[in-house]
Order: sequence, then C-alpha cells, then structure tokens
Amino acid sequence: MDKILVTGNGPLNGTIPISGAKNAALPLMIALMLSEESLVLENVPRLADVDSLIRILENHGIDYRVEGKRRGTSEMSGRTIHFSAAEIIDTTAPYELVSKMRASFWVIGPLLARMGEARVSLPGGCAIGTRPVDLFIDSLAALGADISIDHGYINAFAPNGLKGTRYRFPKVSVGATHVLMMAASLAKGTTTIENAALEPEVVDLGTCLNAMGAKISGLGTSTITIEGVEKLHGARHRVVADRIEAGTFAMAVTMTGGEVYLKGVQPHLFQTVLDTLEKVGAEIEVDEGGIKVRRNGRALSPANVTTEPFPGFPTDLQAQFMALMTRANGTSEITETIFENRFMHVQELARLGADISLDGQKATVTGVEGLNGAEVMATDLRASVSLVIAALVADGETTVNRVYHLDRGFELLEEKLSKCGAKIVRIRD
Ligand code: EPZ
Repeated sequence: MDKILVTGNGPLNGTIPISGAKNAALPLMIALMLSEESLVLENVPRLADVDSLIRILENHGIDYRVEGKRRGTSEMSGRTIHFSAAEIIDTTAPYELVSKMRASFWVIGPLLARMGEARVSLPGGCAIGTRPVDLFIDSLAALGADISIDHGYINAFAPNGLKGTRYRFPKVSVGATHVLMMAASLAKGTTTIENAALEPEVVDLGTCLNAMGAKISGLGTSTITIEGVEKLHGARHRVVADRIEAGTFAMAVTMTGGEVYLKGVQPHLFQTVLDTLEKVGAEIEVDEGGIKVRRNGRALSPANVTTEPFPGFPTDLQAQFMALMTRANGTSEITETIFENRFMHVQELARLGADISLDGQKATVTGVEGLNGAEVMATDLRASVSLVIAALVADGETTVNRVYHLDRGFELLEEKLSKCGAKIVRIRD
C-alpha cells in the first residue's frame, strides 16, 4: 500500500487549480443512465471513486470514451468523458461492486425510473457510520415503487412507471435527494420534494438534468419541484468545482502561513468555511477567477464549529478544521452532527502531539506550541488529508499510511502541494 512522507517545511505559496467535485461527478455519472442519448461531462476529476463508478456503469452496459489530451490542457485539467447509456443490459448492482463505492447504490433511481426495476445491493456501513438507506426506500416507495429487501439486496419494481407525489424528507439527505430528483424526472406528473438538500452538488445535478430536458425548479432551496417528462435527451455539462478540496487547501495554507490562489472555485460554494477561516486568522480575497487565501504572521485564533447540512459548515471539512485548530492560541469545540463516527482522525492527530478530548459528538481541541512528525494511519477519506495538513507544520517527518483513502477524493494532492513548496512525496508500495 502506498504511503506519503511529509516533512514540515514552512509556508505554502503559489496557485492550486481546483478539480471538479467528486460529490458532483458521482451523481452526474449515475443520472446519465436516465437517457439513451450521450452525456458529455467536462472537468471530471481523476479519482479512484470515479474509476470505481465507471466499472459499475460498464456492468450496466454503459459505454464511455475519455477525450485525449488537448492543446492548452495540463495533467491538472479535468477529463472530458463521453458516456452513452443507449441500452441498459443489467438492472442488478452486485455487492462486490456496490460495497467498494457506496454512492453506486444510487443507481437504484435511474434503473427504476427507466427500466421499471432494480436489484441493488445494500451498500453497508463504512468507517464513519452505519449509513442507512431508509430515506431512499421511503421516498421511492412514495413514487409508487414496490420495494422489498432480501439477502442483502433491495428489489424495486415499478412496471407501470413512477407517479409524481409530494414527499417531505424527515431529515436532510444529499444522496436521497439526488436519487428522488433523478427518479421523479421520468415519473408521470409532478413531484415536490420538501426538506431537500441544498448542497451545491444537488444544484449541479439538477442543472444537468434540466439541460437533459428535465423540468426542475427550486434548486438550492429546500423545496424542489420536478415535472416528470417522457424522455431525457443528451447534453454536455461541466462538473462544478470541488468545495471540499478548495476548503482543504484553504485550511492547509492557513495552517502553514503563506499565500495560495485557489483557481476555478467561487466563494458561494463554501462561504461558511471562508468566514470561519477569516475568524481564525486567514485573509481572503475573491476575484472572478478564484480565491486568494493568505496568513502571514498573525497567530491562529481558536473557533467553535458545528457541522450542518449546506449552507452550514460541511462535515467533509470537519477533520481538516480540527487539524488546523491543533495549533490555535486557545481551545476550540468541534461538534459533528451528521455522522456518528467521524472522529477517527483524533487518535492519529494525537500521535502528532495534538491535545484533543472527546465527549460524544463534541471534540475539544486545545492548541499546542508545536506538533511532531510520526507514523500515522489514514482511516477514511477526509481524515487522511487532515493528517497531511497537520504534518505540513509538524517538526520532522510524518509517514501517512493507507493513502488509498486519499486517492478516493483528492486528485494529484502531492503534486498540488509540492508545487506550492510543501515537502511531500509518495512512496509507491
Ligand atoms: C454525501 O453522502 C456525501 N457523499 C458525503 O461525503 C457527505 O459527507 C454527506 O453527503 C453529507 O454532506 C457523496 O456525495 C458521494 P446524507 P450521503 O445522505 O448522501 C443519514 C465524502 O467524504 N441518512 O446526506 O450518504 C446518514 O446516515 C463523503 O466525500 C439516513 O439516516 O449523506 C447521515 O447521518 C463522506 N438514512 C445523514 O443522513 C438515509 O436513507 C446525512 O447523510 C440516508 C442518510
């Protein structure tokens, strides 16, 4: 298994191109199954999760063609991929594929809406929580699907098609909002989703579905209305910038000091994060091409954060912010409200010398004078990058093991950081 060596090495300075969002690319690649015509996605990030999903799409009979290098593009530019779901030859999503990448469970929406049936493996839990799917089952049943569970699989049938309805989510779910929006796009009649997720990735998916001929309004609000249509046609869509990657690098430079320009991302995607970073000592400058994040000299102040659905502080940046607060001048309280087990980075940060105590879903971080390099282990996608952020200012060398977690969600992480002066290398094993 690959590992990453990081040596604490002072300020970061330079420009980081922000990739297309993993959490937008995945639902977009699932939604393309709704149409027989080709969907062209631009700015697709080179990530393990994207590759895993491509394998799953192939299993359903989807063809794809990745465009080769073009004049003016670099390894840091996203890929343009032509997808075609002309014919879906298999409506089963098997355990061995779904268990590798849980968002692939979302294929249940397009399979049900287009083919009238789906047999999809339950995704199972993961490191950060049990990850139930009750909201998916309840909302698809509300569209008239007949749903049963046996031998670890969900069987969903709608031989006469799906029927629009009004559905209110009892709690906000990004994935279940994606899937209900996809399925309702081809339902007969109108669907109103209440307490829908507002995440930018949901807006990106709805925008792409509308480009394919869907009739969706209310995107970015908690009430989304979908007027079902007979068919969806092909389209071309650019994947929205990754706010979690951008927030991660903003926290890295706030930690090390220096000045980094985050190219290709807009502030509205993560305004709460930027406001929090200003509070702790970063200076933020926005222009039409991106966002400059700087911290020179000023000490890091502590801040309290509670993770919430968008537009609140994102749970996917909780671990990275905790790493940052290990060096603040004072005590910060970080409360995780979305997932029940998303503090596994705490014991790894403690190995680097951090002072963090846990009380249920609340972590209390007391800033320390300095961190010391050590062997640490990545436990899940976002936790792994929090260890890199801490290692950037730790005294000496840190080895981050099991970096396959990192490769799931961060494109060219070492390259982007080393171009800004970080001492970070990958040891291929
Ligand atoms: C998406 O997961 C993201 N994944 C997650 O990012 C992100 O942390 C999460 O949204 C919250 O923003 C992708 O987009 C691929 P949820 P999702 O349904 O859709 C509970 C990363 O690091 N719930 O909004 O699975 C659930 O257990 C990943 O990129 C139910 O109870 O999240 C959680 O407590 C990690 N029943 C809460 O809702 C259900 O049927 C929010 O989950 C579904 C969810």
